[in-house]
Amino acid sequence: MRWRLRLRGDALLTLILGAALSLLLYAQRDGRAPTTRAPRAQGRAARGPTPRLRVFQAPDEGAALQVYEEDTPEPPTPTGPFDFRGYLRAKDQRRFPLLINQPHKCRGDGAPGAGPDLLIAVKSVAADFERRQAVRQTWGAEGRVQGALVRRVFLLGVPKGAGSDPTEAEGTGSQARWRALLRAESRTYTDILLWAFDDTFFNLTLKEIHFLAWASAYCPNVRFVFKGDADVFMHVGNLLEFLAARDPAQDLLVGDVIVQARPIRARASKYYIPEAVYGLPAYPAYAGGGGFVLSGATLRRLAGACAQVELFPIDDVFLGMCLQRLRLTPEPHPAFRTFGIPQPSAAPHLRTFDPCFYRELVVVHGLSAADIWLMWHLLHGSPGPACAHPQPVAAGPFQWGP
Ligand SMILES: *[C@@H]1O[C@H](CO)[C@@H](O)[C@H](O)[C@H]1NC(C)=O
Repeated sequence: MRWRLRLRGDALLTLILGAALSLLLYAQRDGRAPTTRAPRAQGRAARGPTPRLRVFQAPDEGAALQVYEEDTPEPPTPTGPFDFRGYLRAKDQRRFPLLINQPHKCRGDGAPGAGPDLLIAVKSVAADFERRQAVRQTWGAEGRVQGALVRRVFLLGVPKGAGSDPTEAEGTGSQARWRALLRAESRTYTDILLWAFDDTFFNLTLKEIHFLAWASAYCPNVRFVFKGDADVFMHVGNLLEFLAARDPAQDLLVGDVIVQARPIRARASKYYIPEAVYGLPAYPAYAGGGGFVLSGATLRRLAGACAQVELFPIDDVFLGMCLQRLRLTPEPHPAFRTFGIPQPSAAPHLRTFDPCFYRELVVVHGLSAADIWLMWHLLHGSPGPACAHPQPVAAGPFQWGP
């Protein structure tokens, strides 16, 4: 009898502990996504007139993956009205120490010629571990791909602990924890670059210039660089085929190019840019920051040019300004889709996770970790997707678009 009672007591304790643990996990889960789920795609699309209307095949209904969308935090998006005065005041401080480095990232793998053929650099935020994992194991995988040596880094700033998380009284404790976590992640995967600036949307420009400086210092022999967001799907095979005909010693920057975009002058907009900050009626041509590719030559020239351009709070426009300084224009390519494809949750009627849609593209923007996984396995598994166009990309000659 007593024995049985004790057993019941044990069971009860287990139950209580289990419940407490679940509660804790649940609370952590909720507090884990410090960034807002601001309508990034919409906001960005609204930034300027879209130069081309991007219509793609109307797919049939079904957005089964929507439930997973909430699991993956969004990359930084503007959280409130932008403090331009503060920005202008702090603008001259544009050098921050590197807290976690990967100095050997671009060592070759023994083969002559050294340097990687393709360096994949992905903007990420500390909390977005799940997407980093998805990228690592899908399109961002390191090693030889179709004979090309591929390397990968994630670009991070210090997560803004204080303020963004209401359950956190002090920000410094949480920052120390984040740093310890990122150190551990870096030891495991050797792909984390962490700089000492706040990881906010309007600091993405800092990320850009720090990455360019890092890559030209630590990766001087890289042939091509793909730079993108963690919420994109990139078709590595298509990209490599496209690059095969290009010379890394020549200037090249290809992406989803926006021309004649006008700065938003409506104060209420998250992308509001006062005339005092940018006086001209239109931005220089720029490639959407969701994903673009550049040659090693352009990388090194851009690192120099960007160091001389005044900071501008929108990173891809800033890069356009650097290009303009070099008198280069980015090259548009229809297979780079970093704007204009709404997230599945915003447009459930668009089947952005149809593998046939991705088959002929290089970059598509706005995916959750689950979408990235699914797409990768649908595209790379056998027998591969059954598409209306019979020709799979991996075999046969390469084709852009339909
Ligand atoms: C950028 O990072 C710096 C350094 O951490 C910080 O002082 C500044 O407020 C950040 N700027 C923006 C616009 O978030």
